[in-house]
Amino acid sequence: MASFCLYALFYSFPIFLLLGVRTACSHESKDGLLRLEVKRASGSFEALVATDIRRWPFRRNLTLDNPLKQNGRTVGWQEFLLHNNARYKSVSLGGNVDPVGFYYIDLEIGGQKTSVLLETGSSNFIVPITGCSSCSPEGMIDISRSSSAQIVHCDSSLCTPHTCDSNLCLTGICSTTTDACCIETHGVSGCFFAFTFFSGEALAGVYFTDIVQVAGISSNATIGGILTNSTDFPFITVPGRLGMAFKDDSCIPSCATPLFDELRKKNNLSNIFSLALAFEGGSLILGGIDSSLYSGEIHYVPLRHGAKSLLYDVHCNGIRIGGGDLIPTSAGATIQSGQNLLGLDSKYYKHLKEYFQTNYCNLPHVCSNSSSSDTIFSGGEGHCFLFFSSDIEKFPTISIELTSSFRINLEGKDYMLPLPRNNRASKSRATIAGDSRSSTFELGTYCFSIVEFPGLESSEGYSMILGNVVLVNHYIVFNRENYSVGFADLI
Ligand SMILES: *[C@@H]1O[C@H](CO)[C@@H](O)[C@H](O)[C@H]1NC(C)=O
Ligand SMILES: *[C@@H]1O[C@H](CO)[C@@H](O)[C@H](O)[C@H]1NC(C)=O
Ligand SMILES: *[C@@H]1O[C@H](CO)[C@@H](O)[C@H](O)[C@H]1NC(C)=O
Ligand SMILES: *[C@@H]1O[C@H](CO)[C@@H](O)[C@H](O)[C@H]1NC(C)=O
Ligand SMILES: *[C@@H]1O[C@H](CO)[C@@H](O)[C@H](O)[C@H]1NC(C)=O
Ligand SMILES: *[C@@H]1O[C@H](CO)[C@@H](O)[C@H](O)[C@H]1NC(C)=O
Repeated sequence: MASFCLYALFYSFPIFLLLGVRTACSHESKDGLLRLEVKRASGSFEALVATDIRRWPFRRNLTLDNPLKQNGRTVGWQEFLLHNNARYKSVSLGGNVDPVGFYYIDLEIGGQKTSVLLETGSSNFIVPITGCSSCSPEGMIDISRSSSAQIVHCDSSLCTPHTCDSNLCLTGICSTTTDACCIETHGVSGCFFAFTFFSGEALAGVYFTDIVQVAGISSNATIGGILTNSTDFPFITVPGRLGMAFKDDSCIPSCATPLFDELRKKNNLSNIFSLALAFEGGSLILGGIDSSLYSGEIHYVPLRHGAKSLLYDVHCNGIRIGGGDLIPTSAGATIQSGQNLLGLDSKYYKHLKEYFQTNYCNLPHVCSNSSSSDTIFSGGEGHCFLFFSSDIEKFPTISIELTSSFRINLEGKDYMLPLPRNNRASKSRATIAGDSRSSTFELGTYCFSIVEFPGLESSEGYSMILGNVVLVNHYIVFNRENYSVGFADLI
């Protein structure tokens, strides 16, 4: 078995002074599967606390936070490298904090290193390229420095014809031969793309092809080079995004074969990938299932749209709170590793809120009172309040019933996310005066991670978004051969 991990520090000064730690490792296991380890990036709620730089743990002890393990034994750097052949390297980049928590991987494009958010809710592979003045310079790809990079010309067969009348053709510049949508800016002229977010913000630019190396394998791929960044996300993210969904979702407006399809064709991998999402880090397995990463059986749920699937939309009967009646959903759920939260269309969110306010009004910040109308339900992205850890245990279990025989249960501690994570020092210990047992309770800030998405079902065609708070601690198989998604417990 060959494996390599590089640990790196990165600083980013522009908005908040942050220090993060990240890793990327690739393993070739004896079953021939390629495993690429991904390290969990800071989540949205950490981003919120990061605004208060005085509380951020600048000087985290790397060795303590991320011990290097060799056969289950903690080892030092030197020893670790001695026993592991270098096959894949990560690169340190600026800012990784996003309004939603995410997982990311490191890869190389034309020999240049960058990082991409790993996303099952889209199909495009996009990275910032030199020329983008509104992009962060970190992780930017300089096409002129790659001998294998080529801009996709507007009249090339890779640029989808007749895309010029698409409302995504923001440039309005058309190829006279193919009527494809083009961009002519920053001294480049080529095939245009615009990647838009639910919020309406966009990343736009030109497609190019280049050799991509990831997990020790490589392939020529079509990549969206970001030249214009209209997003005003308040937090710095990893530079690029890697969509793992289906090709038919890649037309923005020109369609590009997704990286996973290119990699599996070139390297003869099966049309299956899987994700092991641990609370910190995890693995992406390209081309199969690594049975050493899960226990018990894998529960498969069919994709709602079968061979016509664009994303990983699965059947879902509905949700149950605290063992109560099923709140049925009419349009299933979508699996989005690029999201951190559990998102519900307004009609289901309303039921959830009512159930809590009827049955759990005794818990702090569930019901509004005379001194504050703010509740955990009033925030757009989950509201954060001070709670005692003993309160968190009293929050009911929320069951997401995917099939009659398989459900994902979230306990209070799973959907009330502590802020900041892994930072015990910031949690104060409060002694409750007058408590006869004079016991101490741990007081901390917790954020409700179930959010309302108005219009989700009518605009997107699914009732729920299953983000990382739901997916974490699962081994998830994206079986694109028979259009199903399987869930098992992580070891
Ligand atoms: C970091 O961890 C190492 C090894 O456990 C320890 O020897 C060292 O004192 C720690 N440094 C700090 C600043 O905590
Ligand atoms: C786009 O701009 C925002 C805000 O300036 C920045 O945080 C983000 O990193 C930029 N995106 C890219 C891909 O550079
Ligand atoms: C990548 O594929 C495109 C389209 O087939 C081709 O034009 C280009 O030369 C290829 N690049 C390399 C480095 O093979
Ligand atoms: C590709 O893999 C399949 C099994 O997964 C094998 O039967 C086939 O021979 C392989 N093809 C090549 C060209 O290696
Ligand atoms: C897909 O394949 C898996 C593994 O072979 C199997 O267990 C599952 O039942 C299949 N799902 C569907 C919807 O056919
Ligand atoms: C009322 O709400 C405020 C703020 O949300 C909270 O601090 C206070 O404990 C609540 N009081 C009661 C009686 O629930």
